[in-house]
Amino acid sequence: MLDFHAHILPGADHGSDGLQTSLRQLKLAEQAGIDVVVATPHFYPQTDKFQHFLRKREAAFRQLLEAYHGPVRILLGAEVHMCVGLDHLPGLERLCVQNTGVMLCELPFRGSAFGLADTFTRLMDEQNITPVLAHVDRYEPSAIDNYFSMGLFGQLNAEPLSHRFRRRRLLPWIDEGCIVALGSDIHGTEIGYAQYLKAAEFLGPRFDTVETRVRGLLKDALQEKALF
Ligand SMILES: [Fe+2]
Repeated sequence: MLDFHAHILPGADHGSDGLQTSLRQLKLAEQAGIDVVVATPHFYPQTDKFQHFLRKREAAFRQLLEAYHGPVRILLGAEVHMCVGLDHLPGLERLCVQNTGVMLCELPFRGSAFGLADTFTRLMDEQNITPVLAHVDRYEPSAIDNYFSMGLFGQLNAEPLSHRFRRRRLLPWIDEGCIVALGSDIHGTEIGYAQYLKAAEFLGPRFDTVETRVRGLLKDALQEKALF
């Protein structure tokens, strides 16, 4: 199983306060049967300095790879907070999952998404980036439907899929091909992968469908050797 959205890099954001927490998170992943985790620390373009973010992320990634010797493959990515004009950031492709053009994009939480459609269009058409909208379960469904109608894809968090009354409305998005990845969105070690496993059990064959989609999207990363 592949976890497309995880805050597991030590000290890179609020998901892990240090190496020991990250190692415990990976142990939880192992125990759940996860074999690939995409590390997606938050990047906020309005407040983070890009080069500083990249250096900090790389240092955290190296630290984790040097300390972790288990079976889980860790891919480097980011959760990119979307803003108008993000497509103009030089070196933007480094925020994609390593060796792919796939970028996990977080929409602003409250309706201030005006103008983002143009930014997404330029990311796709001019930069050849495939944006995947993070945890689309969190937003107003009609707003997400608009993005899906533009050809964007989405990622679901395991958490709503583990709730009986919240998950039904999410299934059509999977069946229509809009959902291409699932994620734990793990922060800390409290919840671990319990919700992810519940979601997998509930989804059944749909889980396999989404797994096939995400592994197809990330095939270039999954085929290459470790980055460092
Ligand atoms: Fe996240």
